[in-house]
Amino acid sequence: MAEQTDDAGRGGSLTAVQSPEEAEGQRRFDAIIAEDSRIEPRDWMPEAYRKSLTRQMSQHAHSEIIGMQPEANWITRAPSLKRKSILMAKVQDEAGHGLYLYSATETLGTGRDTLNDQLLTGRAKYSSIFNYPARTWADMGAIGWLVDGAAIANQVPLCRASYGPYGRAMVRICKEESFHQRQGFEILLELSRGTEAQRTMAQDAINRFYAPALMMFGPSDTDSPNSQQSMAWNIKRFSNDDLRQRFVGMIVEQVKVLGLTLPDPELRFDEESGQWKHRDLDWAEFKRVVSGGGPCNAQRMARRREAHEEGAWVREAAAAYARRQQAEKEQVA
Ligand SMILES: [Fe+2]
Ligand SMILES: [Fe+2]
Repeated sequence: MAEQTDDAGRGGSLTAVQSPEEAEGQRRFDAIIAEDSRIEPRDWMPEAYRKSLTRQMSQHAHSEIIGMQPEANWITRAPSLKRKSILMAKVQDEAGHGLYLYSATETLGTGRDTLNDQLLTGRAKYSSIFNYPARTWADMGAIGWLVDGAAIANQVPLCRASYGPYGRAMVRICKEESFHQRQGFEILLELSRGTEAQRTMAQDAINRFYAPALMMFGPSDTDSPNSQQSMAWNIKRFSNDDLRQRFVGMIVEQVKVLGLTLPDPELRFDEESGQWKHRDLDWAEFKRVVSGGGPCNAQRMARRREAHEEGAWVREAAAAYARRQQAEKEQVA
């Protein structure tokens, strides 16, 4: 999800003046990338690579954390105990994804406090999709099926990202995301087999989340200047459009099982180009929502700041505990 807002880093191999150590580091870095191997935290890496990854990974972490909100709103209103416990587990998984990703980002040298500060002060972005409201229970289905589904399509190739800690975090995250997608699909399936009102509610949720989910892959490659550098560094493996195509191909089949439809009269497979043709996406809306003008941006940020303040005592207690442990260790030594 992070690619859509990632406007970081160009350059890399073409640093102007390098010391002999840097030149050697660059040579090793280039060789590791060329053999499609992994860069680890202690390896030398170009500043632009470090910066670009820090931005992408932290935006990804922020998206996981903010992404908990639309669904957390429904935990108390889940229609049964079973649904409530599944939804709680799912939202908790997202918190875990945020934590793995913050930890992985910290290995690049930027501390958690700084990353958090960037989010709370609005300097860092997160995925635009979480700025849309979750209006009905069926939205839990549409979010799981479409939003987590798009996340999987985006993230499976990131398991092979050249930066070791990122790739390894993604492996575990993707396993959990596939459970999320299934639980969303299953909610929609049950509603689609229910009463007329339930079918209508399921269809309405799909209608609202279809276009924003397609936009999760980011603008077309021609409007995504950093994609190429990211691909040259083996962070990104497929272009935004390629990933969107795969996703569309997948949901076209799955929606048939639901007996529902995608809100896109223009959707068809074009034999000639081998591409899915879908309706035009509103990129002006995308830009507006990602930069703060969506229906729920203010609410999401206010809630996050509030949660951060409410959690101050936990951070203080953890720091005091760590200090005491350290002092006891020193005494023993
Ligand atoms: Fe997640
Ligand atoms: Fe998820």
